[in-house]
Amino acid sequence: MSPRSQTQAHALGAREVLSVDAPRSVLLDRVGHLLGSAAPTSTGAGLQGRFIAASAALGDLLDAAATGGHLPAAAINGSVEALNRAAEGGDLDAWLDLVWQHDDATYQHCLLVSGLAAAFAHRLGFGEADRRLITGAAVLHDIGKARIPLAILRKPGGLTAEERETIWQHPKIGHDMLVAQGGYAPMILAVVLSHHEYLDGSGYPHGLNAGQIPDPVRMITICDIYAALIERRPYKPPMPPEEAYAVLVGMAGKLDRDLVRVFGEVIVAASAARLGRHIETRAMPTRLSGTAG
Ligand SMILES: [Fe+2]
Ligand SMILES: [Fe+2]
Repeated sequence: MSPRSQTQAHALGAREVLSVDAPRSVLLDRVGHLLGSAAPTSTGAGLQGRFIAASAALGDLLDAAATGGHLPAAAINGSVEALNRAAEGGDLDAWLDLVWQHDDATYQHCLLVSGLAAAFAHRLGFGEADRRLITGAAVLHDIGKARIPLAILRKPGGLTAEERETIWQHPKIGHDMLVAQGGYAPMILAVVLSHHEYLDGSGYPHGLNAGQIPDPVRMITICDIYAALIERRPYKPPMPPEEAYAVLVGMAGKLDRDLVRVFGEVIVAASAARLGRHIETRAMPTRLSGTAG
């Protein structure tokens, strides 16, 4: 039941993790529950498969980053591919539902920001190459956190000034990791280093101003803040999407207004898909009984 084992199990697509000495009755009960909820949903198995592929790739990536190993390019490409195909399916909301199955905060956050970024780039009509860059940058944006002690990352509630300083180092740590490895596009390096910068110069690590922050960085910053607001944590309730979007709008001067507006369309499209899915799900019993006889 170590955090690492659980993370690896989730990367393989596990829905439940039980202790090795769990009573048999508990095991049977959980298996029964999973079988009962395993009926395919209207979103289909395609999205779930892509989600598992992206999660597994992310697991390899985070493990390599934490242990100082070479970041596996195949894992990065694999997750980017899965994310972009999922974005083409247009059901961001179903993606988010899958993301909540991960109780590991780092996984949840990476998959969330990446899913949002892939949908954002798709909405903006970017070509395949640019979408690959944006999604890849989102997958890697917090890779530096793999080197921040878990005790700090997982600490519920307030951090000391010293702990905050430590967390603030993650953009530079991530950037330096990628530079040391070599072969990463300048845009990906810029996103990793500068995704906590604000247009008014109040961000970190360098207090860049608007002219020094390129559009892809601005995009990931928007996705990153929105993700942090709607994330589920044991110690904080998730903020509803409309409220989280209002926070982005309220950050005028810090975030790119035009990009925030388009991002709003991404969120609205996701809510519409959810509504559509609910209607479809409610209509399903009639259709199922019709086909199954
Ligand atoms: Fe970050
Ligand atoms: Fe982040």
